[in-house]
Amino acid sequence: MRVDFELAKSIRISIEKLSVGMFVTAIEESDNITLANAGRVHCPTSIKKLVDNGVKFAWVDKKLSCEKCEIQSQPIQLVDPIERQSLQEVREKRKLATRDSQQKKAKVLVEQARDLANKLLTNTFQRRTTLVDDISSWAEKIVDFALVDTDAIRCVTALRNKDDYLLEHSVNVSCLLVSFGKHLNMNKAMLKQLAIGGIIHDVGKIRVENKVLNKPGKLTEEEFEQIKMHQTYAKEILAKVDGISQVARDICLMHHEKLDGTGYPDALSADQIPVHSRMSAIVDIYDALTADRCYKKGISSAEAFKIMLDMSPDKLDKELVYKFINCIGIYPVGSVVELSDGRVGVVWERNESNPLEPEVKCVYSRKYRHFIDVSYVKLSKHEVTIERAVAPSALEVDISPYYN
Ligand SMILES: [Fe+2]
Repeated sequence: MRVDFELAKSIRISIEKLSVGMFVTAIEESDNITLANAGRVHCPTSIKKLVDNGVKFAWVDKKLSCEKCEIQSQPIQLVDPIERQSLQEVREKRKLATRDSQQKKAKVLVEQARDLANKLLTNTFQRRTTLVDDISSWAEKIVDFALVDTDAIRCVTALRNKDDYLLEHSVNVSCLLVSFGKHLNMNKAMLKQLAIGGIIHDVGKIRVENKVLNKPGKLTEEEFEQIKMHQTYAKEILAKVDGISQVARDICLMHHEKLDGTGYPDALSADQIPVHSRMSAIVDIYDALTADRCYKKGISSAEAFKIMLDMSPDKLDKELVYKFINCIGIYPVGSVVELSDGRVGVVWERNESNPLEPEVKCVYSRKYRHFIDVSYVKLSKHEVTIERAVAPSALEVDISPYYN
């Protein structure tokens, strides 16, 4: 839920005075004031992180903070940030500087996830006892990051290697589950389990033959039975592993269960499938449908949404599908769009008040058929509109370097 606050009414306090329960609207590192992802501080770790990142002062909204918080403004304050920089300037600064560094951090985290998924899918848990701990500490990092910025993660995960489907799919399902959980206001502990569940969800596929896993085109009945076995294998693998929570296990073992009891491995009925497993079924299908494979192009998000809605309410939870569509947006961050003036770019930032008008990083002109100087176009402030979504593979040029 978005909370309205007025930065001008915020109080500047020294970072040492920041405590759990305070509602932060901006942070200050030396001369830079950055609009924070406004919200209440939920744990001491977040404060430690700010200190570690060199933040000296925080701007706090007294009214939106917990009543018990004692908030006293910093007496040495000489300059009001609003006098120094307009709210808009602060936002612009945040966009250019923060997003850039966020993007770099997101890239590192996604690389780490790919590395973990790779280890997981080439070895079994039993043989790598530290892997559970490694995945768990990665999950903590991705959740901390996602609580501040999911757009950067989405942009990074949008670029995937089609030859490494299983690995990329595991990472994407994990990141999408965290985004989805955040959208549903789930708590941090739950988000962490969603991240872990996503990474491990297809671990059973390590025992399925590659030629079946990667077979182009339609599977025979027998081959499909072999694919389905990945859930039986997953049960066997997880039975021998400690340190995996029930939520993460449920995601792994129930992401192919359907509400009408037609899923596998246990043909569970709706009342036996918890919400996190229902979420994983939605995310798993969405990522599989939209991913490019070496033998087929992924379909657009809009087409995937349609298929998922057709599968609900019988197989998928309809209310959750709607919420997922809302979470991803009509023009997902990281997708490519063509504007009405012929410019082409990557959807860079969502516009929560109008999903049809996101911010687009324009890099190419279809009209003049050449690359152009990069510009960030907020569609809400321009005459141009989105003409169409474009599959990157349908573009005459490669714009993947501009995802960073
Ligand atoms: Fe699966």
